Amino acid sequence: MTVQRVLTGITTSGTPHLGNYVGAIRPTVRASRLSNTENYYFLADYHALIKVGDPARVQRSTLEIAATWLACGLDPDKVFFYRQSDIPEIPELTWLLTCVTGKGLLNRAHAYKAAVDKNTAAGQEPDDGVTAGLFMYPVLMAADILMFNAHQVPVGRDQIQHIEMARDMAASFNHLYGEHFTPPQAVIEAHVATLPGLDGRKMSKSYDNTIPLFAPTEQLRKLIMGIVTDSRAPGEPKDTEGSALFQIFQAFATPEETADLAQAYAQGIAWGEAKERLYQRLEQEIAPMRRVYEELMRHPEHIEATLQRGAAKARGIATPFTARLRHAVGLRALNDGAVGNTAAPATKLAPPQFKQYREKDGLFYFKLTTAKGEVLLQSEAYAQPREAAQTIKQLISAEMSWTELPPACQIGNDVDIEAALQQMRQSQAD
Ligand code: TRP
Repeated sequence: MTVQRVLTGITTSGTPHLGNYVGAIRPTVRASRLSNTENYYFLADYHALIKVGDPARVQRSTLEIAATWLACGLDPDKVFFYRQSDIPEIPELTWLLTCVTGKGLLNRAHAYKAAVDKNTAAGQEPDDGVTAGLFMYPVLMAADILMFNAHQVPVGRDQIQHIEMARDMAASFNHLYGEHFTPPQAVIEAHVATLPGLDGRKMSKSYDNTIPLFAPTEQLRKLIMGIVTDSRAPGEPKDTEGSALFQIFQAFATPEETADLAQAYAQGIAWGEAKERLYQRLEQEIAPMRRVYEELMRHPEHIEATLQRGAAKARGIATPFTARLRHAVGLRALNDGAVGNTAAPATKLAPPQFKQYREKDGLFYFKLTTAKGEVLLQSEAYAQPREAAQTIKQLISAEMSWTELPPACQIGNDVDIEAALQQMRQSQAD
């Protein structure tokens, strides 16, 4: 089984806040330490240009996010840590993918549709104020992911559709040009809380209710004192349910500390004191990282050097892979063999495939997919990889009929499944 590649990016359009830390930065840093995975973490600064027209802000945000990732413990020697715009192969791949992407697919992207709906509701032209950059956002994101053939992409729920689109683009490209891309999977951290902001709504730049992760300590304290509470007086029992203060505390504290605070709520702790506790608890986790952050921010040249090294490492993969893709689509030196020959038919390049893999549950599975990546058969779980391999062998050799698999495993229609297996037998006989 190949090493799982995990990839995620953060758009460099703002200053990291507690919500970004809890939802994205802390889990990615932890994952990069634990794991037997290969991790790709990057600064999505091309994406920032879609939303931000202020060059100084793009630069500042890129520095802040890079410094934050490092201050929070990301080890750039253990992962691929780079800035998107240092990898010119990414916009190049964006174009290759653009050419196999249906415009209709992009029409259905949530962010684009929301802009169109808003215009329509306001009686404007549907595309009023919509840049082609916004429209193309999912293709650039697919290029980020497919460039490194990431298996897993940890993202927030709002990004799931983009991962599905990347899968579609991978399948279209593979269908036309052969198997080059692995379809990526979104990974949604179910237990990662969305953090409430100062006003109790989700902490988000667009609500202007954020607490910057590395606000100086006095400012952090002041912001915490401004978190909304209800009007209950000291001594009155307070609800933990729906308390933004409590939820933020919980995201940083141990279960015991959280239970203690819950008890203090029940016993009528004064809001001012509860806020003080939150401040102390945050400070305990943040202060050591803040010192590193401030030091890093004083030396942008060090961060720049780190990113340059990261870019070189990432391009070690991106450059040869792009050469392969260029060749695949026909962007070739003119003295390169096949001039005048017509290419082999796509079906030769891209037969149906059995894929074996291991899920998070530790069990083994296989699936049969068409050249386009459509799933025809999806196996049940096997305790041992060789049981899965054995079943595959029997299916191909026709010792076993696919109709003997449980009905839930039979995803594709009968004709397609049969045709795919026939094609595999045929190509084995060839
Ligand atoms: N669109 C993502 C966001 O706004 C950022 C991003 C860009 C990204 N490219 C990516 C995330 C590739 C994961 C993979 O959150």
